Amino acid sequence: MNIETLGYPIVVGQGLLGSVSEYLHTDTQKVALCFTPATRSLAEQVKAALLDKQFEVLDVELPNGEAAKDIEVVKAAWTQLADAGFTRSDAIVSVGGGATSDSAGFIAATWMRGVDVVHVPTTLLSMVDASIGGKSGINTAEAKNLIGAFHDPIAVICDVGVLAGLERDEVISGMAEVVKSGFIGDSELLQLVENNSADSLVTSGALLIEVIGRAIAVKAAVVAADPFELSVQDVGRAALNYGHTMGHAIERYESQKMRHGEAVALGMIYAAELASILAIAPPDLVSRHRVLLSKVGLPTKYSGGKFEEIRKFMRLDKKARGKQVRFVLLSAVGEPKLYDQPNEDVLVEAWQRLTN
Ligand SMILES: NC(=O)c1ccc[n+]([C@@H]2O[C@H](COP(=O)([O-])OP(=O)(O)OC[C@H]3O[C@@H](n4cnc5c(N)ncnc54)[C@H](O)[C@@H]3O)[C@@H](O)[C@H]2O)c1
Ligand SMILES: [Zn+2]
Repeated sequence: MNIETLGYPIVVGQGLLGSVSEYLHTDTQKVALCFTPATRSLAEQVKAALLDKQFEVLDVELPNGEAAKDIEVVKAAWTQLADAGFTRSDAIVSVGGGATSDSAGFIAATWMRGVDVVHVPTTLLSMVDASIGGKSGINTAEAKNLIGAFHDPIAVICDVGVLAGLERDEVISGMAEVVKSGFIGDSELLQLVENNSADSLVTSGALLIEVIGRAIAVKAAVVAADPFELSVQDVGRAALNYGHTMGHAIERYESQKMRHGEAVALGMIYAAELASILAIAPPDLVSRHRVLLSKVGLPTKYSGGKFEEIRKFMRLDKKARGKQVRFVLLSAVGEPKLYDQPNEDVLVEAWQRLTN
């Protein structure tokens, strides 16, 4: 499957690790391969194919997970590129999860004001979300993703075979963004999840390719319509934030002990309950959320914290404009709308429904 909506190829399939060179420009000679200890063996397969095609390959090992998104890691990579005489026509290839592609994308955006980058995502979340749409970034001591740049990759290569090496909970967590894509933009994707067992979703290659491809197509269409998140009239790129207002608040309250997808699943239930209380949602929206999310193994009920505690974190969300708390709510599947500052008692009522 090949998605071209964003002007660069996003390929989803099996056995694709050897195909990276097909997407590099003809004047590229050196490739900086960014990977982590967890993705070394996958990176080695990418590297072998690049060496076969006469590319010079520079290994840039980043730490696993969020530790890659650190300015000291980026500085060390800049030094490696300088020592290797890396020029403007050379390219970076990331092989890893969203933290790797965010950091490698940032290195690519900043080296000589921008060099080519190809992402080879190795988690479900990075296939359907992080590596799509050109946002790159690193963290500071104050907050996540505060420093970054928009820098589109020249290609994204999703080889579903790599997901076999991931922890099952990591794949389940990524399914939250898949379900989110279905709710904001593709009812057929929701039906695919509804009509197939959780096991067959993650084990059948053809089904997984279709599910991932459809989720990517939703994100790509949203990003193509509002690439820099500037839309004011319309929900625009903010649609991708569905479930994330409450999701991020719970995630912060849990101080990153809960997986992102689990928090987003709870956030989507909360948003569906809000839409139901505000009478803007179709009658079956909440039950459809509960059935779908529990089917893929995600939580639909929360008992971890008190509303007043979590509410504080909602105010701090960087996507809240000014002091307002802003939600993306669905008036129907595929119809996300922005909803600013619902009444406090409505927020509390939805909370009670999420927690009881
Ligand atoms: N740029 C964007 O638009 C965007 C969107 C969403 C999320 N993000 C970012 O993505 C990051 C989260 O991404 P993630 O969930 O992929 O986490 P991650 O990159 O931290 O990967 C999760 C863990 O899995 C390991 N791993 C990765 N691939 C593996 C494989 N195939 N086999 C075994 N282990 C593997 C990693 O080393 C890590 O320890 C966050 O930093 C987030 O801010 C960015
Ligand atoms: Zn998310």
